[in-house]
Amino acid sequence: MREFDENSITEAVLARVRNAADPRAREISEALVRHLHAFIREVRPSQAEWEAGIAFLTATGQKCDDKRQEFILLSDTLGVSTLVDSINNPVSGDVTETTVFGPFYVPPPAFDHGADIGEAIEGTPMHISGRVRLASGAAAAGATVDVWHSDEAGFYDVQQLEKVGGLTGRGRLTTDGEGRFHFWTRRPAAYPIPTDGPVGDMLAAQGRHPWRPEHVHFMIQADGCRPLVTHLFAQGDAYLDSDVVFGVKESLVRPFVAHHGGEAPDGRQMTDEWISLDHEFVLDDSGRG
Ligand code: BEZ
Ligand code: FE
Repeated sequence: MREFDENSITEAVLARVRNAADPRAREISEALVRHLHAFIREVRPSQAEWEAGIAFLTATGQKCDDKRQEFILLSDTLGVSTLVDSINNPVSGDVTETTVFGPFYVPPPAFDHGADIGEAIEGTPMHISGRVRLASGAAAAGATVDVWHSDEAGFYDVQQLEKVGGLTGRGRLTTDGEGRFHFWTRRPAAYPIPTDGPVGDMLAAQGRHPWRPEHVHFMIQADGCRPLVTHLFAQGDAYLDSDVVFGVKESLVRPFVAHHGGEAPDGRQMTDEWISLDHEFVLDDSGRG
């Protein structure tokens, strides 16, 4: 058969992709064709709407460069990143839950315990402490803890490198013999994801706001454990129930405790407002995946 119509085209494409030598390529191609054709049958786009769809995907690609990944933003805002994360990191005992990686990670500079990783940032001092242990019980000594967060205006260092003079508000710590780490930084803030591209246009068309609740990112790695990519979210934030990238999990919502003066956990005497955040992270050492 060489001529196709609305009734025959889907089966014709499926028959061709079934020739794929690699079984996974075949499985993915078949599912792609089935779902894409079902979507088009449901939506029944006009020719102009189909062209607008192609223009949207083209603009999404054109917005990408080595600092901006509009396709990841599209995946995040359509809940695909959270779906992929949930499929690959199902809840397991008391292992700390994962969430989206986001586009603002770069390998951070190393710091000693107690250091200030946010010296170049203005804002409220924040003391962050934690303990990392294995799900099987032992402390995770020597684990690598990468941390990154926005400033109080909601911008990451990589979005304003000239203004802040280099990487800041991010750091790598190595846990001590008891799996502990602690450092100073500045309180982050809730922030809107970048809206100056096609994903921003999509959110506006869908009647959605672009905000993420206040959070701090962590990536924790230890020998023999599954890497943990997660955030801690500020309890009470107004956007916890409507995070634009669907990344919130109840177990990751923690008190960002406000203090006035007094003694910080590392003995530092404080005069003004400061924040503390403390959490125990549990790594999956079951050997799974
Ligand atoms: C972030 O938290 O850094 C982030 C995650 C997804 C999309 C945009 C930003
Ligand atoms: Fe973030």
